[in-house]
Amino acid sequence: MRLPVGVKVGVFAILVMAIYTYYANSIPQIESKPPEELSLESGKVTPAQLVKAGEEIYRAKGTCEICHRIGQKGTRAPDLAGIGVRAGKTRPGLGAKQYIIESLLKPAEFVVEGYPPIMPAVDKPPIGLNRSELWALTAFLQSLGGGVDVALDDIPTTAGASAAGGAAPATVKLPGDPKAGEAIFAGKGACIACHKAGKVGASPVGPDLSQIAKIQTPDYIMAKILDPAGMGTVAGFPKGVMPPTFGQGLTAKEYVDLVAFLLTLK
Ligand code: HEC
Ligand code: HEC
Repeated sequence: MRLPVGVKVGVFAILVMAIYTYYANSIPQIESKPPEELSLESGKVTPAQLVKAGEEIYRAKGTCEICHRIGQKGTRAPDLAGIGVRAGKTRPGLGAKQYIIESLLKPAEFVVEGYPPIMPAVDKPPIGLNRSELWALTAFLQSLGGGVDVALDDIPTTAGASAAGGAAPATVKLPGDPKAGEAIFAGKGACIACHKAGKVGASPVGPDLSQIAKIQTPDYIMAKILDPAGMGTVAGFPKGVMPPTFGQGLTAKEYVDLVAFLLTLK
């Protein structure tokens, strides 16, 4: 039976994704140096201090600004201006505080209409916030238009369990060959035409990928290469510029090697 090329290509892309996702899921977790953690569980803290700590987390460790802006539309994720009030009206029966906490811990269950389901659970790697940090972050989000009344006890004790110390992060065994992937990045993939990645390349057309493994999950990076438009557009960059044809142009090995290279960038 002869299949149209489009179907073959689609099946191929899905197969590659499936294999790679299997690998990605069978490895314990991406190696990363645990960033500094905030602990507020012992001391007393005022709502104002909490909001300030939360704002820091929003801008730095939380890497929320990769996708969100406050007071600016048209990025790949909802504008968070006014979320402190809006959150109370989004889901019947769910208060603002609960809605905010749920959107941070289980983004996949609360996908805002019109946006791709790309938000990572923020208490899991790569972001990996602990309970104190989630508490402060929730206070900051509440402060965007609403009143701050979140208590540490509102954050489930199971949240951020992996980030709050415990076992040291395991080292990853990547299925691809990062060296070969670097060659694809600079050569056949021509990513270098638009992206910088560490010492490779200098083009400012697309985002600098030098820290991409620190700020994005392997699943997102894999999907972005195959379907750039489907994964939303990085804030501040033009839509539709990243070619949607890499799934067809690269062999499975080249793709896996390329992803392995990108996962070394942190
Ligand atoms: C990779 C991109 C990405 C990152 C990083 C990210 N988000 Fe999101 N976020 C989204 C997208 C897309 C949505 C809308 C779809 C959904 O609800 O899952 C969303 C939804 C939300 C919502 C619900 C908004 C609403 O209008 O109901 C909140 C709150 C939120 N994010 C907060 C955060 C915070 C805080 C951080 C940082 C700790 C963060 N997000 C990191 C992409 C991201
Ligand atoms: C013609 C220019 C162009 C080429 C070639 C290109 N990209 Fe992109 N890329 C972009 C632009 C522009 C964006 C930001 C807009 C968007 O999100 O689509 C982007 C976004 C990305 C992102 C998301 C970054 C983030 O912060 O979330 C990744 C990952 C990426 N590109 C990887 C690649 C890889 C790997 C290749 C080579 C196989 C490649 N790109 C080739 C232009 C390009």
